[in-house]
Amino acid sequence: MAHTTASSQIPQHVTSLLSHLTSRPGVQSTFILSRKDGSIIQSTGLLATKPAGNSSPNVSQADSTVEEESEATMTPAESPTPPTPSSATTPNRQTSYQPSQGEALAARIFAFVSSASDLSLSLSRPLNENAHGSKTDSNGLQEGLGNGTSRDDGDGEASEREDDDEVKLLRLRTKKHEIVVVPDKKYLLCVVHDAAHPTGNTSAGLRSSQVLDTVIESITSYLTNTNVQLGATYKTSKLSTAGFANGYEAAAKFINAKPEEICLGVSTTQLLHNLSTALKFQPGDELILSKLNHEANSAAWVRIADRLGLEVKWWSASNPQNPVCDPNDLKQLISEKTRLVACPHASNILGSIVDVKEIAKIVHQYPRAFSWYKVYGPHIAQLYASPRIHDQIDTLGHFFKGTETLDLKLNLASANYEHVQSIPRVVEYFEPDVSASWEKVAAQEERLQQIILDFLNGNDRVTVYGERSADRNLRVPVISFTVRGTKSQRLVEEVEKRSAYGFRSGHMYSHRLIKDIIGLEDVEDGVVRISMLHYNTEEEMTGLVKVLEEVIATL
Ligand SMILES: Cc1ncc(COP(=O)(O)O)c(C=O)c1O
Repeated sequence: MAHTTASSQIPQHVTSLLSHLTSRPGVQSTFILSRKDGSIIQSTGLLATKPAGNSSPNVSQADSTVEEESEATMTPAESPTPPTPSSATTPNRQTSYQPSQGEALAARIFAFVSSASDLSLSLSRPLNENAHGSKTDSNGLQEGLGNGTSRDDGDGEASEREDDDEVKLLRLRTKKHEIVVVPDKKYLLCVVHDAAHPTGNTSAGLRSSQVLDTVIESITSYLTNTNVQLGATYKTSKLSTAGFANGYEAAAKFINAKPEEICLGVSTTQLLHNLSTALKFQPGDELILSKLNHEANSAAWVRIADRLGLEVKWWSASNPQNPVCDPNDLKQLISEKTRLVACPHASNILGSIVDVKEIAKIVHQYPRAFSWYKVYGPHIAQLYASPRIHDQIDTLGHFFKGTETLDLKLNLASANYEHVQSIPRVVEYFEPDVSASWEKVAAQEERLQQIILDFLNGNDRVTVYGERSADRNLRVPVISFTVRGTKSQRLVEEVEKRSAYGFRSGHMYSHRLIKDIIGLEDVEDGVVRISMLHYNTEEEMTGLVKVLEEVIATL
């Protein structure tokens, strides 16, 4: 059970910063501590300081305890087992006082910030000069570092520290937890997260993945150390060029291709537009487009067909509840004049996996594109085209550039350097045994979607679109549905009011699927779409089912 102690004295900017810090799920506890002595001003959640006795939390009690304790506070760094700077529980000074878990944690957080401040001072001040006049050794280390008494013995000192202090944010991640501490003038704001929730993950699903830490670090390091133009002979440029080339190698390897067969670019949408402009079409060519496509996969072809007078043939689907890309229907559409077939591997609405191997037998050869942000990478996309069709692609490059690779032909300037060079970090995530890693990911995702689908399939007001089974060979974990008698967006808003789950409603750029195949009248309101990935937990899914159940019952 969560316990909360609260003080009405906390300024607005502090409470809004705290609420910003707690906007992602997995928050176990929050603390607001005094910047002066680490005393607890407010605590919430699992690790919160329990109120005294059986009495309910009481503002004046919490405030008076802060006052009372500040005189008797022993600075945390003085004791190996941190004492409590303060609590809403009035300690009995006659018996030895046992701090609660929250109090002990608060003391440690205070010690953590104090030593970080010392570290920051020793970084920012020249050797032999320091904040407190103590001696520095030849390594610049301050004698008596860790003895917090000198830092906390009065308001004057505290405000001096505030001017000097350069610590803006502290983040500590362990296997099980992540703690974020933001020092303010008078307060320390702390949020303890369960590490099962990756950083920045706002929900049990958006249809893009959270970015791997290693990718974030790689991009930061690139921008910090090697952010120069590629292709020059000086050392930093050589480093950048090599990093970019490694990115292309890894990206190609990820799909069993060669670097010259792929092109990386801003988005799938953009890459397909580039390809559509560069492909050499003949009058009378036909393009077959699936109605199940995300518009990224249709728009470029519709546009070029319009401009060049080509024929678009729509590959439709007959079952509005479970539309599929049926190879038999494709066979009816394909002809000698077919130049291109565009269909999804898995629809971003339905989640159902399309049997692309079967389709490839009919189509033979086709370019493929996907976005790295769907697989834990940065916002960058990749296009593959077999070398067998490279001669059908004109170059969009400058006249003096080569044309030996797909990248040279299709990229306008270049893909984003820092993103490309971070791709090896994504690929590493699945190594050493890529198939085994994907199998583990898929197995976990099957468990997760099973929980949601069991609930949705069992509710007679709900229509699930696409594959109703959770089988990982048949669907990926993106689940769309409507609820009879309510707007999709209304349901989303009601869930948001009651919980921190984040998902959305609408057509999600599969406008033709929602309007022409599923046949919803209000396409903008569309379906409710919930998606999840392997880093989500079964507990999150059962929690979500509970909220959905409650919300649907009230709508
Ligand atoms: C199936 C599918 N295709 C294409 C796209 C578009 O990708 P991009 O944003 O890289 O253009 C998306 C994006 O959500 C998608 O889900």
